[in-house]
Amino acid sequence: MWGGRFAEGPAAVMREINASIGFDKRMWRQDIAGSRAHVAMLGRQGIVDAADVAAIEAGLDRIEAEYAAGGVPEDPALEDIHMHVEARLAELIGPAAGRLHTARSRNDQVATDFRLWVRDAIDEADAALAGLQRALVRRAEENADAVMPGFTHLQSAQPVTLGHHLMAYFEMIHRDRGRLEDARARLNECPLGSAALAGTGFPIDRHGVAEELGFDRPTDNSLDSVSDRDFALEYLFAATACSLHLSRLAEEVILWASQPFGFVQLADAWSTGSSIMPQKRNPDAAELVRGHAGRIMGCMTALMVTMKGLPLAYSKDMQDDKPPVFEAHELLTLSIAAMTGMVDSLTFRTDRMRALAESGFATATDLADWLVREAGVPFREAHHITGQAVRLAEAAGRPLAALSLQELQGIDARIDARVYDVLSVDASVASRTSHGGTAPAQVRARIAEARTLIGMD
Ligand code: ARG
Repeated sequence: MWGGRFAEGPAAVMREINASIGFDKRMWRQDIAGSRAHVAMLGRQGIVDAADVAAIEAGLDRIEAEYAAGGVPEDPALEDIHMHVEARLAELIGPAAGRLHTARSRNDQVATDFRLWVRDAIDEADAALAGLQRALVRRAEENADAVMPGFTHLQSAQPVTLGHHLMAYFEMIHRDRGRLEDARARLNECPLGSAALAGTGFPIDRHGVAEELGFDRPTDNSLDSVSDRDFALEYLFAATACSLHLSRLAEEVILWASQPFGFVQLADAWSTGSSIMPQKRNPDAAELVRGHAGRIMGCMTALMVTMKGLPLAYSKDMQDDKPPVFEAHELLTLSIAAMTGMVDSLTFRTDRMRALAESGFATATDLADWLVREAGVPFREAHHITGQAVRLAEAAGRPLAALSLQELQGIDARIDARVYDVLSVDASVASRTSHGGTAPAQVRARIAEARTLIGMD
């Protein structure tokens, strides 16, 4: 393809290090779509005559069918997907194939193919995340009133509802989808026609090509177009942020499924056994989601480091852009699917959650708040009084609500019988009615909004 200038062929290792077909063949669909739009434009502009355009289009149709049916034989001498498609085209239609590359370089070609691929990846991840959101909403709805301990420092803090806890992940995933959407909007400009780096003297129509490939517009600087990989980095960042959320959810599933917590049981389909310990139900899938987050982050770091020192315009280092993006996407979509499956099928042990919420003095804040509201005690003093009540309850081995009025009044005479209304975990959660609070009414209101947001109704 560039042999004219050389007297000798490349060394075997030169060929090997140079070849990207092993991974970039994944872009065959995008490569053929880009070539179709390009050749149609060359025809419209009178750069290639109609007969050659028709022959090239027919050849591309055939190659597409061949790839769909299992691929085209690979030859490392042909380096990449772009040359494989073009060489196959030459086999099929002869010298007219050579006209396809008029006013184009592999530099703008790969930038275009890769944008198209990342755009599809974004759409695929977004659709999968919508599925996870639907699962979270369904499970939150079932458990809008289920009381569980809310934690800070992984210490029992205040009672919350399981529905509220699950909806926290809905919000995270919603921001993840927003990041993907933003990345997609910035990505959606077409580099094709930037040629090797400087543009071209042929009278091409970049706007027409952009439109045909579903881009909003052509890019505005040919040097930038062939050397920009922000779109891939943005996808990797969005994928990383999302994988961190999935990893936190996975971590909670792992903790909750452990015997000391006992908050959930994983479905058989999402558990693995042990070859030596017959009682085991291990949360391997959740652990792998947690592990994959590290690998996805590694992919983002890899591409950042690849790009950081490159002068304009194209350098071959940039061929290394694709493996981390392909890997991250595969890990992300698998992680989303696994989390969706787990969330859908978890059995929540709400009785156990409630018992733990009741045993951890989780309504201590409610007692302090009551002293402020009903007895006019300053909050700091109320905090101190409540601390004494917790100390007494702890020593007696009873929950706060089981202290007698006499015992409570022994700590502070301003306490009266109405205090028992706020000491139960149900009263506590029901009272948290501030916007975004854990009261079942608030949670249900947000669930209703969520259903509309993601088109569940
Ligand atoms: N396979 C190459 C890549 O992925 C295509 C661009 C090659 N351009 C070049 N000037 N060698 O980056």
